[in-house]
Order: sequence, then C-alpha cells, then structure tokens
Amino acid sequence: MSDQRLPAVLAVNELDFISHSPAQTERVGQRLGEQLRQGDVLLLVGTFGVGKTHLVKGIARGLGAEELVTSPSFVLVNEYRAGPQHRRMPIYHVDLYRIAEEAELTTIGLEELWAGDGVCVIEWPERAQAVLPTAHLAIHIQHLSETKRRMRFAPTGAHYVGLVSAFKDTVFA
Ligand SMILES: Nc1ncnc2c1ncn2[C@@H]1O[C@H](COP(=O)(O)OP(=O)(O)O)[C@@H](O)[C@H]1O
Ligand SMILES: [Mg+2]
Repeated sequence: MSDQRLPAVLAVNELDFISHSPAQTERVGQRLGEQLRQGDVLLLVGTFGVGKTHLVKGIARGLGAEELVTSPSFVLVNEYRAGPQHRRMPIYHVDLYRIAEEAELTTIGLEELWAGDGVCVIEWPERAQAVLPTAHLAIHIQHLSETKRRMRFAPTGAHYVGLVSAFKDTVFA
C-alpha cells in the first residue's frame, strides 16, 4: 500500500503555475473565461488579498462582459452579462465570506445560480461545502511574495478535466 503516492496520481489532471503580477492573473482569467460555457462552476480558493477578484475580472473580460467587476463582499452575488459571443449569458460572481452558516445559503438561492443559465464563479467556496456541485473547477491561489501567486487548477469531473486541458493547450502551447 502506498497511500503517499495517491495525491500524485490524482494530480495528473491538475495545472500548476506561477502568476508574476496582477496583470498576468487577469490575463490567465481572460483566457479561461474565453473557454467557459453555460453551467460552468468555478471555485476560487485562497485567503484575503490573494487575487481571487482579480482573476474574476479577467474571466469576465474573457466572456466579453463590459461591467465593472468589483468585490461582492457586501451583496454576496454580483451579476454581469457576457458578450454576444457568449450569448450574453449571466455571469454570477459570488463571495461567500460573510456566510455565517450553511443554512443562510438557501436564502440566497445558490443552487439556482448553477442550475444552468450562466457561469458561476465563487469566492470562499469553503463556506458552502455541503451544497456545492461535485463537478467543478477549483482554482487554488497561494501567496508566494508581494507580486507572485501560485495557481493550481484542480478539476473534478470529465468536463472540467477537458476544460483544464484545453486551457493548457491555448496558454502554454
Ligand atoms: N500575481 C498577482 N495576482 C493577483 N493579484 C496580485 C498579484 N500580485 C499582487 N496582487 C495584489 O493582490 C491583491 C489581490 O486583491 P483581490 O483580487 O481583491 O484579492 P481577493 O479577492 O483574493 O481578496 C491586489 O491588491 C493585487 O494588486
Ligand atoms: Mg475578493
């Protein structure tokens, strides 16, 4: 039995790289956003000020949104509109930092957000562990230095494995 080797096996579909600036993080988000489609769920995991909202800015730009992306910390969900190339689908930008208990989640109707008509990007998904869809793309962001961030794309489910692989091909080919 070699339990220690399990993480390496599971990590085969993951993508791990370093962003060297806020602008680069936004560009990464933009390239990812270009590839998103209706129903996609992204979970952005990482502490305060690590760059989650910057990544969302890029994602929204990649989807052709024209609205200003800001932190939804006080309203929990910001909604933007994708551009015509993405059939103007809604982009739900969720920040669950202020969720005190999972019971509160039912009042904001989180499940409806990923029921199908748009893309859902969630900051602080740890707060909603029990209700999140099993298939998703988790993006872990880690602070390395003032301007460097480690980014790890961890897909669950065949669709997201394919998304990461397509992203890898366009960005690192
Ligand atoms: N490589 C990087 N990627 C993203 N943000 C960075 C990076 N380097 C420095 N920063 C800074 O980190 C902060 C990230 O803020 P924000 O995106 O709001 O974080 P979060 O939403 O995770 O709290 C910004 O002040 C940004 O300028
Ligand atoms: Mg944020």
